[in-house]
Amino acid sequence: MMMGKTCSKTTPSNLLVKRGERQKARNTPAGKETNAPLGVFVLEYDASNEDIEKTRNWKPIIKIAVSGAAGMISNHLLFKIASGEVFGPDQPVALRLLGSERSQVALEGVAMELEDCLFPLLREVDLGIDAKKVFEDADWALLIGAKPRGPGMERGDLLEMNGGLFAEQGKALNEVAKKTCKVMVVGNPCNTNALICMANAPNLDRRNFHALTRLDENRAKCQLALKAGVFYETVSNVTIWGNHSTTQVPDFVNAKIGGERCTDVIDDQTWLENDFTPAIQTRGGLLIKKWGRSSAASTAVSIADAMKALVTPTKEGDWFSSAVITDGNPYGIEEGLVFSMPCRSKGDGSYEIVEGLKINDWLRERIKKSEEELSNERMCVSHLMGVEGASCVILEDTLLPGEM
Ligand code: LMR
Repeated sequence: MMMGKTCSKTTPSNLLVKRGERQKARNTPAGKETNAPLGVFVLEYDASNEDIEKTRNWKPIIKIAVSGAAGMISNHLLFKIASGEVFGPDQPVALRLLGSERSQVALEGVAMELEDCLFPLLREVDLGIDAKKVFEDADWALLIGAKPRGPGMERGDLLEMNGGLFAEQGKALNEVAKKTCKVMVVGNPCNTNALICMANAPNLDRRNFHALTRLDENRAKCQLALKAGVFYETVSNVTIWGNHSTTQVPDFVNAKIGGERCTDVIDDQTWLENDFTPAIQTRGGLLIKKWGRSSAASTAVSIADAMKALVTPTKEGDWFSSAVITDGNPYGIEEGLVFSMPCRSKGDGSYEIVEGLKINDWLRERIKKSEEELSNERMCVSHLMGVEGASCVILEDTLLPGEM
């Protein structure tokens, strides 16, 4: 796949949009080549001409693989990463963009826009349609691409369709990514897709896998702030428990506003239970109804937030939500699920689950429901995790946040 100069760790070369795999990929079955747009795939220059003073203190380059790279979410996210907003102004990045045969020409367009932004920290852009090549040596894998549920499809069909994709991507990560690679699954149903991916990547630590619930946390923080009439930055300690589905539990019991208990600041239990909670659970669907498509910009912002939360020390006393493996969790949630819980990080890319949150009856009952849903989802995809013979029983056709 690699052509042209490779990046040295200390003095990385400039932006390279590489051509190796794409050269092959753009050979259509009929053997026709498409014309590469000016600049894309061919830009190289002599790195020794760079301003050494500027790059002297830069960290070694990191490789970030992104699936669904030609999609709407990526179209917001890639530019945030390339600008330095996620990893900081001294962290050069290489972007590895995974598309499909259908999206490969669009990927070239994305690469052209990345070039045209003149981001100094963006050192390479590499395009491909083969996960085994695109994930090579990845430090991060952001798995965004997935198919939405089509008309007439049961939840089980959706699990099967996307599960197969995530099993393949898990195998690819297992073979070629760094053992320390952090994997953030966004494509829905993201919790179970993350579990499938993890099961197919035994070389990677199970604790390196996340499914995105930061978008739900951000949505919850905003609504609490609006109700309390305060700036959203004063809302903290918000946990999303469970599945990124309509069974998720936005926790107002342990949340704080301006350091006070949320339930003291918003003294309206009826609103918290009957308005706030379902509003967060179904906000993605309302957005689709109004906008005509799934959330994209806010999802990208929340992916950036979720990554920053792992590479920045968490504020004293606070936490963030991420769906992570339940093995050894302190809340008695069934092991072997990817379940959203309160987490903290020292900023080294790892996390710990925060213990000691108060779980009252209201929370317990709802957390249980989300746990059961995830447990059922796992049974439905067990064959994709190397376990044969489990039966798939979806008792209730629960929905993704984006479905109504
Ligand atoms: C969201 O929460 O906005 C998305 O997960 C919606 C969806 O199903 O695409």
